[in-house]
Amino acid sequence: MTAGPLAGRTALVAGGSSGIGAATAVALAREGATVAIAARRAAELGEVADAVRDQGGRALTVQADFAAADGVTSCVETVRDRLGHIDLLVYSAAAVRLGPVHETAPRHWDLMLTLNLTAPFLLVRELMPSMLDRGYGWVVAIGSAAGLQAVPGTGGYGVTKAALHRLTELVAEEGRDRGVRAAAVCPGWVHTRLAADPASQGVPETDVLSAQDVAETVAWVVTRPARMAVGPLVPVAPVASHADAVGGLSRYAFSPAVPAAVPDGRRRG
Ligand SMILES: NC(=O)c1ccc[n+]([C@@H]2O[C@H](COP(=O)([O-])OP(=O)(O)OC[C@H]3O[C@@H](n4cnc5c(N)ncnc54)[C@H](OP(=O)(O)O)[C@@H]3O)[C@@H](O)[C@H]2O)c1
Repeated sequence: MTAGPLAGRTALVAGGSSGIGAATAVALAREGATVAIAARRAAELGEVADAVRDQGGRALTVQADFAAADGVTSCVETVRDRLGHIDLLVYSAAAVRLGPVHETAPRHWDLMLTLNLTAPFLLVRELMPSMLDRGYGWVVAIGSAAGLQAVPGTGGYGVTKAALHRLTELVAEEGRDRGVRAAAVCPGWVHTRLAADPASQGVPETDVLSAQDVAETVAWVVTRPARMAVGPLVPVAPVASHADAVGGLSRYAFSPAVPAAVPDGRRRG
C-alpha cells in the first residue's frame, strides 16, 4: 500500500502487539505508513503484522522489552537497520498496578516509571533529532484519563500518565517551529485486556470505547495538514457517565473482591 496521506512515512508503534497499539498499527498502515510494531509477545506481533499485510500494508515486527536496560536502543537500531528513518512514534506500552499510593509496592512504582515514562523519554531522545533534521515528525503518546485528574487508587499509574502528558506537551512546544508535532491521546475506559471487564462493573460493553475508536483518533491526529496542530492533550472518552473510566478505575482499585494479582495483567499496588 503506497497511497494515503502517510505514504512514504515510517511509524514505530511501541506496545503494538494488542489493544490500542495493535489497532493503531493497522490504522496507520491504512493511511499508507510502513509500520514497525514492537512489544514482547512474538506470536501476537505476528498476528498484527498479518492484519497490516492483509490490507496491503508493510509491516516489520520487533520483539522488544521497553522496561529492559537496552530495550529502547536495540529496538530503534533494528528498525533503522531495516527501514531507515522513523517519522512517527506512537507509544502505547504501559504497566498498570492499581491501589492507593501508600499501598503501592516500590517495585511496581519503579516498573511504571520505567515503562510508562522513561521508555518514551528515551525514544524521544533517540528519534527527535532526526525528525528535527528532516523537518517532519510525530510523537504520539497514549495517555490516560487517569493522568488528567487525580483518581483515587490509580497510584503510580496516574502519576506516570500525568508526567507523560507533560513530556508530550514539552515535545510539542520544542518541535512546533521545526515540523515536529506531538499529542497525547488520553482515553477513558477502552475495552482491552489491560482494562477492567465492563460487565464485571455492571457497564454494557457497548458503552465503553473500542481500541479502534482510539486508533482512528490517532490516525486522524497525525494526518492533519502540516500547518495544523491538535491538542497536545486529546481526551477521548465514552459519552455515558456510567462508563466513565475514572469512576471505574477507582471502584476497581478499592474493591475488596479484587485479588492482589489477577492473570490478565491487572494488579492492585
Ligand atoms: N484500556 C483502557 O481502558 C485504557 C485507558 C486509558 C489509557 N490506556 C492506555 O492505552 C495503552 C495501551 O493499552 P491497552 O489498553 O491497549 O492494553 P494492552 O492490549 O495490554 O496493550 C499494552 C501493550 O503494551 C505492551 N507492553 C507491555 N509491557 C511491555 C514491555 N515491557 N515492553 C514492551 N511492550 C510492552 C504490550 O505488549 P507485550 O505484552 O507483548 O509486551 C501491549 O502491546 C496503555 O498506555 C494504557 O495505559 C488504556
